[in-house]
Amino acid sequence: MRTDHQAEPTEAAISALGHGTTAVAYPNIALIKYWGKRDERLMIPYVDSLSMTLDVFPTTTTVRLNPAAPADSVTLDGSPAEGEARRRVIDFLELLRERSGRSEPATVDTRNSGPTGAGLASSASGFAALALAGAAAYGLDLDRTALSRLARRGSASASRSIFSGFAICHAGRGVGAAADLGSYAEPVPAPDFDPALVIALVDAGAKAVSSRAAMRRTVDTSPLYQAWAASSKADLAELRAALWRGDLDAVGEIAERNALGMHATMLAARPAVRYLSPATVAVLDGVLWLRSDGVPAYATMDAGPNVKVLCHRADAARVADAVSDAAPGCSVVIARRGPGAWLQKGVER
Ligand code: PMV
Repeated sequence: MRTDHQAEPTEAAISALGHGTTAVAYPNIALIKYWGKRDERLMIPYVDSLSMTLDVFPTTTTVRLNPAAPADSVTLDGSPAEGEARRRVIDFLELLRERSGRSEPATVDTRNSGPTGAGLASSASGFAALALAGAAAYGLDLDRTALSRLARRGSASASRSIFSGFAICHAGRGVGAAADLGSYAEPVPAPDFDPALVIALVDAGAKAVSSRAAMRRTVDTSPLYQAWAASSKADLAELRAALWRGDLDAVGEIAERNALGMHATMLAARPAVRYLSPATVAVLDGVLWLRSDGVPAYATMDAGPNVKVLCHRADAARVADAVSDAAPGCSVVIARRGPGAWLQKGVER
């Protein structure tokens, strides 16, 4: 919805009329996963989730207000965005206009330095960057908590990419405005925990089933979903304590079982949703082999076949070699904990 009321332009909003405001955000990988929404319009998850923001594959997004343009324009990696990807960005711009009381169309330019839609959290970095650049462009003065709520409206996992290091996204309670207010992300302290996350890119192509459709099907039809959601609650409490202790074995064990449990709920959906490929399973075997050889290494997978292996930084090169051997042809990237979203141009609080 657009209104005719125009808010006082801030410095960032004035700059958005010229060169635009640019924000950078990094993907995050959940150690305790979010899967399933209890409110699809407000993007409220069923379960709390906890992630590590990475230092690789940033998304850079520029939002420029364009009062003379007849409509919004969205480019993704240099080409006009199409279909679902375009619709989600335009819905988000509508939300920004509704919140700011402004009406100008915008030009959005987004560049992902990692693969898009391959279960590597491109929607997390994408909507975190869009929330930050878009809020600044439309003159919304939001703190990080409010930004995380806003980013959640684009993609629930994006709320966590507002923050550096480890972050929890609360599912919250209630309905409507109370649910919206209660579902936000915040940092989780892990002062002595600085592991590596070895990413095994077994397939960089876009997934066949969107996570949105797959979640809906899992919640509606999988007899295992409620059991996983309940166990995820216990997993989260244990993982927080393990993060605080800096206990990689405990963090890894909990994260691995939480991810395998999430994939089990999908496999039990009707019809089944299967993101794991033979190469995924080969990497999982490689991880088991590493552990049997005394190297602490633990796997997690999202809505795609790629595997992320948590390990000590000192073991990262060895883990990278082992996963390359397990799935020949896969490319491997070593990530660490990374920064929260930041504004490159315009004004940051
Ligand atoms: O926020 P979405 O729609 O991209 O869903 C992401 C869900 C998982 O990556 C599988 C888990 C998570 O918590 O990030």
